[in-house]
Amino acid sequence: MRETEEAKAILSDRILSLAESQTIAMAKKARELAAKGYDVINLSFGEPDFQTPQYIKDAAKQAIDEGFTFYTPVPGYPELRQEISKKFKRDNNLDYAPEQIVVSTGAKQSIANAVLCLVNPGDEVIIFSPYWVSYEEIVKLAEGIPVPIMGRLENDYKVTAEQLEKAITSNTKLVMYSSPCNPTGAVFEEEELRAIASVLEKYPQVHVIADEIYEYINFSGKHFSIANIDAIRDRVVTVNGFSKGYAMTGWRVGYLAASREIAAACDKMQSQITSGTCSIAQKAGAAALKGGNASALEMAEAYRRRRDLVLDLMNDIPGFKTYLPNGAFYIFPDVSAYFGKQFEGKTMESAEDLSMFILSDAHVAVVSGEAFGAPQCIRFSFAASDEKLVEAMRRIKNSLAKLQ
Ligand SMILES: Cc1ncc(COP(=O)(O)O)c(C=O)c1O
Repeated sequence: MRETEEAKAILSDRILSLAESQTIAMAKKARELAAKGYDVINLSFGEPDFQTPQYIKDAAKQAIDEGFTFYTPVPGYPELRQEISKKFKRDNNLDYAPEQIVVSTGAKQSIANAVLCLVNPGDEVIIFSPYWVSYEEIVKLAEGIPVPIMGRLENDYKVTAEQLEKAITSNTKLVMYSSPCNPTGAVFEEEELRAIASVLEKYPQVHVIADEIYEYINFSGKHFSIANIDAIRDRVVTVNGFSKGYAMTGWRVGYLAASREIAAACDKMQSQITSGTCSIAQKAGAAALKGGNASALEMAEAYRRRRDLVLDLMNDIPGFKTYLPNGAFYIFPDVSAYFGKQFEGKTMESAEDLSMFILSDAHVAVVSGEAFGAPQCIRFSFAASDEKLVEAMRRIKNSLAKLQ
């Protein structure tokens, strides 16, 4: 967003220094092009293309009919916190009591709550990069100092324990990562997280936000929560939610689990900002968990198939450096081979230029890597139908061939 001079005169430094979400900005540009009549294929979205399963919708309708229309307890209905506690035991072998769980208006709010409760101005927050767009901005809102450390493509973009250790200083307060990762789809293996935890063991002031929102979209079938490691368990905030696994992005319900102290602080923070999450969404969330994760795993299987399809087609595009994303629904190739090439007198200086070229020439919306801390990459979502994915890759290949 480019603020006008008038806006700059009245708005706080806080909001002026905040970046607009790039994924939302790209979606806006794609919509504008579509409104002009172009057939735009949108691979910029960070959401499932599936409907929420019917049994969850039915539970929401029932909640309305049964009169669940009042304010809810700030950290969530006891019933939902109980179900989340059971889920942690069932899926992650984690013992979180309901009192250690805070339900929020999406995992994004859970992350913001935790950062605002843990970070003082000037504290350093290590962010495993490439990272989800909002991490850095939320840290800035808390007046913390984001310290991105970049995973290497050869390691599927995963940051190693050695890299982490080099980045820790006496000012480090927090480490944040997502696994499966947005934007790379990388999944940390248990031994990799154990190595990371061994480093963290040495620095008792350092906390962790483990963002596990894509847990069920995991093609290796093995999800490991770092909170399983006793030595650091009380310093870990585990974030999860319903948006991705249960295709419930619009319902706005997520949660975190943490030590009692941190959970109580997040409850207090939320009580002054949004209060309890929507009553109907919470009832839907409880029903989702009671129904198990079969529908989530079914959707994950579709994403796995599409991952294979896209990867095959992408490997056929000259200059795209790929790897095997083991989870989520994104692939994040290095596209820097195209930097310096030209089309009609315009030079591709960056992933941003290349993304705009792909949108204007191939009519495919993608998100450039700058927003994720990786300016050499572009994020493609494969949460789209096979036909759309095939057509998008065909168009992109043709368009890129025009670059000289
Ligand atoms: C890594 C990651 N964490 C958190 C979120 C936010 O999820 P929610 O919709 O529950 O706020 C997203 C959504 O894109 C995400 O990609």
